Amino acid sequence: MTAEYKVHGDIALITLNNPPVNGLGYATRVGITEALARANADATVKAIVITGAGKAFSGGADIKEFGNPKALQQPNLLSVILMIENSTKPVIAAVHTVCMGGGLELALACHYRIAAPGCSVALPEVKLGLLPGAGGTQRLPRALGVEPALNMIVSGEPVKSEMLAMLPGQQLFNKMAVSLESLRDEALAYARSVADVRPLPLVRNLPCKHPQGDAYFEFARNMVGGMSKNFPAPLKCVDAVESATKNKFEAGVLVERSLFINLMWTPESRALRHIFMAQRAASKIPDVPSDTPLRAINSVAVIGAGTMGGGISMNFLNAGIAVKMLEMKQEALDRGIATIRKNYEAQVKKGKLKQDKYEQRMSLLSTTLSYDDLKGADLVIEAVFEEIGVKEAVFKELDRVMKPGAILASNTSTLNVDKIASFTQRPQDVVGLHFFSPANVMKLLEVVRGAKTAKDVLATVMVLAKKIKKTAVVSGVCDGFIGNRMIEQYGRQGGFLLDEGCTPVQVDKAIEKFGFAMGPFRMGDLAGNDIGWAIRKRRYLEKPDMKYSKTADLLCEKGRFGQKTGAGWYDYVAGKRDAIPNAEVVKMIEDHRASLGIKPRKISDEEIVQRLVYSLVNEAAHILEDGIASKASDIDMVYLMGYGFPIWRGGPMNYADEVGLFNVVQAMHRFAQNPLDDARFWQPAPLLAKLAEQGKTFN
Ligand code: 3HC
Ligand code: NAI
Repeated sequence: MTAEYKVHGDIALITLNNPPVNGLGYATRVGITEALARANADATVKAIVITGAGKAFSGGADIKEFGNPKALQQPNLLSVILMIENSTKPVIAAVHTVCMGGGLELALACHYRIAAPGCSVALPEVKLGLLPGAGGTQRLPRALGVEPALNMIVSGEPVKSEMLAMLPGQQLFNKMAVSLESLRDEALAYARSVADVRPLPLVRNLPCKHPQGDAYFEFARNMVGGMSKNFPAPLKCVDAVESATKNKFEAGVLVERSLFINLMWTPESRALRHIFMAQRAASKIPDVPSDTPLRAINSVAVIGAGTMGGGISMNFLNAGIAVKMLEMKQEALDRGIATIRKNYEAQVKKGKLKQDKYEQRMSLLSTTLSYDDLKGADLVIEAVFEEIGVKEAVFKELDRVMKPGAILASNTSTLNVDKIASFTQRPQDVVGLHFFSPANVMKLLEVVRGAKTAKDVLATVMVLAKKIKKTAVVSGVCDGFIGNRMIEQYGRQGGFLLDEGCTPVQVDKAIEKFGFAMGPFRMGDLAGNDIGWAIRKRRYLEKPDMKYSKTADLLCEKGRFGQKTGAGWYDYVAGKRDAIPNAEVVKMIEDHRASLGIKPRKISDEEIVQRLVYSLVNEAAHILEDGIASKASDIDMVYLMGYGFPIWRGGPMNYADEVGLFNVVQAMHRFAQNPLDDARFWQPAPLLAKLAEQGKTFN
């Protein structure tokens, strides 16, 4: 039963019951209309209460139904809402925990609303590239006032029910319940108290005006437009709310509907909806059941207090989990602690962290020079030098001291996790936790699953990742895991583009215009060009016939490692991050090009973007084939969360799907004809070729 029906004396209680969040899918909508009809037909019923079972009143329209004909099948949400408004008996919404999107729109159509404290109230459609499409942009301004309503609609952010109830003149909540536990009984009593009141009040009949009218909306458009470049929905939200202030209710609803439908078909909305699902799908591992028992993680040890060790520790301190850091020397520990303090103090200075919170976090941090002090930790994360010999020594020590069942993790970015696991007698407890730098800021966590990693270890770290506010994606063991394996191909294309006629500025500008946070050369300067140099030395020893541009090596030979040396592809002024083009670097590229006998050609921004992005896509298709990633949407999450891929394009795989895989493959065939590029690489991965041939998509 998606909507339970029960009569309590003379009040009918309709309880939405569609876990996990009472999404208003087809079956639920049918359930509501049937229950409403039953209550209206029952002469003993004087009023009707609608509430939700479990952990939500309602999370809104069923997102999983979008794009499916069922979403439009009658009764659609608009019909349900109309039926509530037209009920001859008063309908009272008893909202709690989560009241969002279509759920709030449904509540706004009820004659009265009673809310439990602590309820998250939102119209979050804008986060899906939409606007509220079931009257929300017309009713919320009437119930709450134009400005607070527009703020909620444009931001999509939840506001607590008790805060909304305090707004002067608000008519959103007629009553606040004392507690979540008493909500049902209070709602039934409230329903009895209004059962005979006529006429039935409707939000649609409330006035809707802003005293400054046009001037206010002009201001709102300027603000919103400036903050929402590349996303069409926020400005449309302003249009819809303005329409509420200028039109009769019925006309405003038509404007809203038309804007909603147009937004539904935009690539930006498709991308945002894809990301919503991809984010949740990432935490699900195909062969690890969701009810896998978890290991308790109450304390963490971190080995190495350097760049990564410090950032990793902060994640756990922020989540209230005690951390013990181990180093070889006291000075290294002191340095590590000082950096953590400096980071927190900067947050305190900016007003982002309260002093007492800072002290509380620091009180959870302790240090040691002895492995024996770590034995009580539930999880240990190693972040020492990237040398297999050092890792071996550390993991042998950990194997000696850690209690049975402790999870042993490595933050290695390039080494083989299976090899690291083999240094212990308990490879089932070993896993890779690849944080990105700065580890306290970056949202991505690649969870590297070794051949022997136990399922409960994986399940535990996926849940833990959520606790420390990371998006975790599982990767199999391979060189570079998902993200860096792909970025290597992207970097290789960047090099070929220089050889063929581009400057670093041209390449960076083109891909930044596409939406990347940073082009490959600015990124190289940030990460340190010496890191790629070291990888290439190893890589081209293993694969001497692999084609690549030598320009980056020449740059490193000049000691231009990037921001850390004040010079890389660009120049940097101390203390600033602005990339200043350097004529000598351009000359170096030109000389190298001439030495290869290459005549430079003018390369379009379109070609630059296609070569960079499709190189990611082709490698990603190999990654899927190799089983390194279990789904295409995981690869999108890696690139969105860790590599600055434009959000409104939904990740490389979603973008390729949007372009059409047939078109992507055609472009690859064209690139393969270029004698200066790597024809072998541009052979479309078999999976990509197959999907393109079948007219299918990755996602
Ligand atoms: N429809 C269908 N499923 C939904 C859903 C929805 N509206 N909202 C959440 N879910 C599902 C998630 O997919 C997830 O499923 P899973 O367990 O199978 O992975 C499950 O509910 C739990 O979600 P979270 O992991 O996000 O759980 P949280 O407790 O952290 O958050 C939430 C709950 C606050 C409801 C959050 O999920 C959320 O913000 N959901 C989106 C709400 C939303 O955007 N609603 C508007 C929909 S569009 C609309 O209503 C159009 C209308 O105007 C016409
Ligand atoms: P770092 O050089 O800043 O810090 C390493 C720390 O480990 C130093 O403080 C050192 O004293 C300590 N250390 C070395 N050997 C030790 C031992 N035997 N026992 C205890 N402590 C020891 O290095 P960084 O950048 O923090 O890297 C650490 C690990 O994280 C490496 O495996 C690296 O590949 C990985 N990584 C680095 C990223 C980065 O951007 N810096 C990103 C993701 C992973």
